[in-house]
Amino acid sequence: MSRKVLITGVAGFIGSNLLDFLMRETDWEICGIDNFSTGNADNIAAHRNNPRFTFSEDTLFNLTTLKPYETVFHLAALPRIQPSFEAVSEHIRENLLATVHLIELMMRDQHYPRLVNSSSSAVYGTPELVPTPEEERIDCLSPYAFQKYETEKYISLIETRVPLDYVHLRYFNPYGPRSFNPENKFNAYSSVVGIFLRRLESGKPLEVTGDGTQRRDFVHVQDLARANYMAALHPEKLNTAFNIGQSETVSIIDLARKISENITFIPERPGEAEITHADVGKARSVLGWEPRMSLDTYLREACQKIKSHA
Ligand SMILES: NC(=O)c1ccc[n+]([C@@H]2O[C@H](COP(=O)([O-])OP(=O)(O)OC[C@H]3O[C@@H](n4cnc5c(N)ncnc54)[C@H](O)[C@@H]3O)[C@@H](O)[C@H]2O)c1
Repeated sequence: MSRKVLITGVAGFIGSNLLDFLMRETDWEICGIDNFSTGNADNIAAHRNNPRFTFSEDTLFNLTTLKPYETVFHLAALPRIQPSFEAVSEHIRENLLATVHLIELMMRDQHYPRLVNSSSSAVYGTPELVPTPEEERIDCLSPYAFQKYETEKYISLIETRVPLDYVHLRYFNPYGPRSFNPENKFNAYSSVVGIFLRRLESGKPLEVTGDGTQRRDFVHVQDLARANYMAALHPEKLNTAFNIGQSETVSIIDLARKISENITFIPERPGEAEITHADVGKARSVLGWEPRMSLDTYLREACQKIKSHA
């Protein structure tokens, strides 16, 4: 049965990949909103003439109702750790207050579509439990991480008064097509996989922060899109958080070596975790989701493509 859904942040890295996924895998009517603050019109160009997709170039603060929607996939954010230290109030507005605005629209209309909310493994900081389950203690190392956690917390507090229906997806380290947007002012802080591939393409050395022993759990954006889809389809109200990662780690230095021999080191950056490693048992058992994509295959194909154009 067809349904009508909204994707906020549809022109961003993950939002546009979710749009591709839903256009391909469903017959749903999809509305998207994006103010292009970090997103890019090219990311959604392929669907602009499809009658199933309607796009609004606007800030989500100007949304006046969510009544038409059965599901709201909420991806709009300023999602970078380092900039969140520099423009704190702007990040509070875009990451916390924008989501509160969605909740207030639901409360005013007493219409509670399922909110599939993009959260982050950043809420765990450097975890004690590795692989990290959802019950791990929260340890926010940056304003961005705290805003993601606050958003989750506000939603669960408000849910004690009104019948919200939500799922928080705590993404680990997403990679995949469009992770590097040349027009994004926060590019330097986008996925390291995308940055490294871009450096390879332009013949520049890969810059490894610190000694490169920090480890990351890289998860392909197609797997994230499928997690969003499965969270939307789940027949019961879940009102909980799920880790979405590959559940495997690679060090940054090993990642760099998989891409190029041309490597330099730059100082490490405060506010970033030493390790991210998802325990995805809960997503597997409750949502029936598990990662399917392989980082090595993606890197091999991406490097071959770059070298064949060199
Ligand atoms: N990429 C990651 O490493 C990562 C990791 C964990 C969680 N997340 C979360 O996933 C979500 C998507 O991240 P992404 O990597 O695709 O980021 P992105 O910057 O590529 O996309 C975010 C999109 O939201 C839009 N946007 C921002 N504020 C808006 C507003 N007020 N109104 C309308 N549109 C607005 C931007 O223009 C952009 O297109 C975010 O919520 C982010 O916090 C991302």
